[in-house]
This record gives sequence, structure tokens and C-alpha cells, in this order.
Amino acid sequence: MNLKGFFNREKNQDDLLRTVSSKPIPKHIAIIMDGNGRWAEARHLPRTAGHRQGVEALREIIKTSVQLKIAHLTLYAFSTENWKRPESEIRALMSLMVEFLKKELPELHENEIKINMLGDMQGLPQDAVREIQNAMDVTRHNQGLHVNIAINYGSRMEIVKAVKKIAQDISQSVLTPDDIDEHLFSQYLETRSIPDPDLMIRTGGECRLSNFLLYQSAYTELLFTDKQILWPNFTRRRYLEAISEYQFRKRRFGGIDVGEGV
Ligand code: IPE
Ligand code: IPE
Ligand code: MG
Repeated sequence: MNLKGFFNREKNQDDLLRTVSSKPIPKHIAIIMDGNGRWAEARHLPRTAGHRQGVEALREIIKTSVQLKIAHLTLYAFSTENWKRPESEIRALMSLMVEFLKKELPELHENEIKINMLGDMQGLPQDAVREIQNAMDVTRHNQGLHVNIAINYGSRMEIVKAVKKIAQDISQSVLTPDDIDEHLFSQYLETRSIPDPDLMIRTGGECRLSNFLLYQSAYTELLFTDKQILWPNFTRRRYLEAISEYQFRKRRFGGIDVGEGV
């Protein structure tokens, strides 16, 4: 993370929160929560201990997002490619998610958080589907932070499904090929009601998207942390620093300067 020297190490988190809050806040932040396994391996712990610690980090990031009044937070929790992992790790990841939703739902709901899922629910264990469905039902009218959890999500799969559905709608005369434009296409994606991410953060040092929000991130600001910042040690301070860095970026969308981080 390349900090601009605007604030220093001593500056306390409240100051940082105030500084970040006084500037335009990204409406949508997407996070690739990577590095749980390496965090655990460095401590000679099983990889699942890293995933468990990752849930702690997640709690802080959600809390901070609420404080900052961010509208959408999209979290990459399990990719369509993560099925390649050992069955025991997959099982642990799924049960952690179930545990998280069960335990945290009352507090999430109290804080007006709306839970939404991206990805193919088919293929997930029954109890996971049940908890996800319940969390979405309970929070469906909430007006606060929208937390979109991507589980069994893959951007290519999402795009292929959209193309298939459009083809079906054309064959049933719901659409004509001339109706297809970027806006219509985006309405066939799972993110149809979510604005494109303004900022995407990936912890763990890998500089790739790993099949996450490929269509939606055409003009997203990408921020890859140093490799020693693994998801379990992505603190509230680091999150605020990441947003602060975003606020220094100049987004041009192919045009000329439109201001800082807006
Ligand atoms: C991210 O951490 C969590 C998931 C992919 C579910 P990893 O498990 O990928 O951790 P590393 O990248 O192997 O350290
Ligand atoms: C991306 O991390 C997926 C999630 C964080 C859920 P991976 O660890 O699966 O990505 P690669 O394999 O390093 O690209
Ligand atoms: Mg990884």
C-alpha cells in the first residue's frame, strides 16, 4: 500500500476516521479476502485457523463500513475455483460461514445491515443454504449497509449465465438483439441492483482478480496490499488507510480529471 504521507503512524484512529469521513466515501467497496492460509502456516497452525481468524477481521471491517456509512460492501468468500481445495478445508469454510451467520445475524440486523448473496447456491451444503436464505429474509427490509457475500461465485460463470438468459429471452421474443446494450447486460448479472465497485481491495499481495467482478470492475480503483498484510491482519486502521489512498486517486473514466476519489 503506497501511502502518501498525509498522516503519520502516531495519528490515532479517530483522527483517521474523521479525515476519511470528511472526504467522499466510496459507495461500494469490494474485498478479496486473501491470505488466511499463509497467516496460519506462518504460525504452524492448520489453514482453518487462518479462516477462523479471518472472520474476526471481517467483523471489524463490517463495523467500520457501517461507521463510514458505506452503501455496499462485497466480500469474496468462496470462488467457483475454490472447490479444487481439499474437502476438509471446504467443509471448514462452509461451517465457518454458517457459524458466522448464526452468531452475528442479530447484531447485523440490529445495525440495519442487509445481507445479500452472490454466486450459485446450488452445490452448497444444505445448512449453508438455509442460513443464507434466513439471513437474507430477516434483513431484507434493512436500509443500512448492504453486505454482499460472494460464495461459489465466479465472474465468468455469472457472465455466461447472463448470456444464456438473454438468448432465452430473445428466443421467447421478450427481447430483440437491438435491445442489448451495456445497461441491459448489467441487469442480467447478479449485481443488477448494486452499483459498480469504486474500490477493490485484495490483501495478501497477489495482484490479480481471481475471477471476481470482472465486468463490474472496468473502472474500479484496485488496491493490492503488501504480501505481509494477510486477511487476518487486515485491521480497521489498514482499511481506513486503504480508503484514504483511494481518496487521493484521480478517477478519469477515460476523460479528463473529474476530481479526487469521487
Ligand atoms: C482466502 O485465503 C480465503 C479463501 C479463499 C476462502 P486463502 O485460503 O486463499 O489463503 P492463502 O492465499 O492460501 O494464504
Ligand atoms: C480468491 O483467492 C478467492 C477468495 C478470496 C475467496 P484465492 O486464494 O482462491 O485466489 P488464487 O487461487 O490465489 O488466485
Ligand atoms: Mg489465496
